[in-house]
Amino acid sequence: SQNRLLIKNGRIVNDDGIEEADVYIEDGIIKQVGRNLIIPGGTRTIDAAGKLVMPGGIDPHTHFELEMMGAKTADDFYKGTRAAVAGGTTTIIDFVLPEKGQSLLEAYANWREKADNKVCCDYGLHVGVTWWSPAVQKEMKQLVSEQYGVNSFKMFMAYRNTWMLDDYDLYCAIETCAELKALPQVHAENGHIIARNTEKLLAAGVTRPEGHQLSRDEEVESEAVNRACVIANQANSPLYIVHMMSKSAVRALQLARNKQKQPVYGETLAATVGTDGTHYRNSCFRHAAAHVLSPPLRPDPSTPQAMVEALADDHLQLIGSDNCTFHEKDKEIGKGNFSKIPNGVNGVEDRMTILWQKGVNTGIMDPCRFVAVTSSSAAKIFNLWPQKGRVAVNSDADIVVWDPRLEKTITAASHKQAVDFNIFEGQHVVGGPQYVIVNGRVCLDDGELRVVEGLGKFLKTPINSPYVYGEQNLSHGDHDLLEPLSRDSPDRVNGSSVPTD
Ligand code: URP
Ligand code: ZN
Ligand code: ZN
Ligand code: ZN
Repeated sequence: SQNRLLIKNGRIVNDDGIEEADVYIEDGIIKQVGRNLIIPGGTRTIDAAGKLVMPGGIDPHTHFELEMMGAKTADDFYKGTRAAVAGGTTTIIDFVLPEKGQSLLEAYANWREKADNKVCCDYGLHVGVTWWSPAVQKEMKQLVSEQYGVNSFKMFMAYRNTWMLDDYDLYCAIETCAELKALPQVHAENGHIIARNTEKLLAAGVTRPEGHQLSRDEEVESEAVNRACVIANQANSPLYIVHMMSKSAVRALQLARNKQKQPVYGETLAATVGTDGTHYRNSCFRHAAAHVLSPPLRPDPSTPQAMVEALADDHLQLIGSDNCTFHEKDKEIGKGNFSKIPNGVNGVEDRMTILWQKGVNTGIMDPCRFVAVTSSSAAKIFNLWPQKGRVAVNSDADIVVWDPRLEKTITAASHKQAVDFNIFEGQHVVGGPQYVIVNGRVCLDDGELRVVEGLGKFLKTPINSPYVYGEQNLSHGDHDLLEPLSRDSPDRVNGSSVPTD
């Protein structure tokens, strides 16, 4: 075989423990994990001494080549997945978003066409239920079949003029997900309140990006989180809330998690932990508009750290990017009216380093929890486990060799994303990917990006995940717990201090 690789002397970090062992890869699959492995001659060896060997990141929330609010995202499936790999992410899950009235199957086929020949890493698809009818319900049944491989559907409680469902339709869609043993995902914001507040702000002459934040307070999010949870509970359905952006929303989720009959999961974003809502007041329009996403970044300055703590404490289960990037010319559509600014930020490239910086370097979470929230939990929830999200024999060789001492300053001048702005501009981060292995191929090679367009495959995600519909619990694995790191001793990585700059 030509495709052999040995990663030696590293510390393997999985979501349930750390182990010192070598990893041997053949033809894209992890074949052996252990010490003193017997390896065929001519195998390339990567020395990972002093490094962590982790499952590649899984970003459960991207929007590549999406047309939205009169613009098209800067990152397509090639540039977007290239940026993902550069940042240590080896699987992404994107959203098929049909127009109101459009066939879901047709939109799905369109997404496959946009992605299949372009992706540099494996990818899966969620499908948006952006309108409701018996035909839509029938198409959901088809989409969960083995032929299409979809197991998650996103419903919107906001975007009143385009994608929003009313509560009756949302209830029906969630019920359908539960019947199909698929996972309903919800964008939780009260679209009616946002629409009315937007009218009032514009009438009062508030047109700049800060109006976006002012039109949708935390309680506009937390009310919808609560309502979504109630509807899911009435439907006896599990639930996944995407892009949770506020402390109030997390509190609402926690109440539901404590009482709900079925699992309820919450996702936050790199943007939420890595930047804050002060940027909407920046006097530069491009700068302020670059941060416009929904729900918005919050004015409460304690939000970013609180969200990292929520991830550490299992009040939130995973972190995505919601990467949905628009060039300056596109953001300018909303120059005289904040409600017309195309919504979305970058994050697919920086998600892992930002969370390492804010979560691990600060001692708030240990590396195992970092792996859980950036990779393993997404694999479990979307039923890709243990093919993805784990460094173990028979798993896909999607691996990041993480150097806890690697330093860089994030900047649009050198990022791999197509977009002309980076919301983490100027942030100094310590810890990052030195090697990224995608399906057994070294695609980031000692810092040098060597991706292959079309190398990635579409991942069919089967319904009925044991972590959603079965007895499996996300927060502890099925395997032996090897030397768990305690939350207050991040310095146990490598047996020495992790540099925090
Ligand atoms: O502002 C955002 N989040 N843009 C992407 C679309 C969505 O709602 O996820
Ligand atoms: Zn959304
Ligand atoms: Zn600026
Ligand atoms: Zn999104």
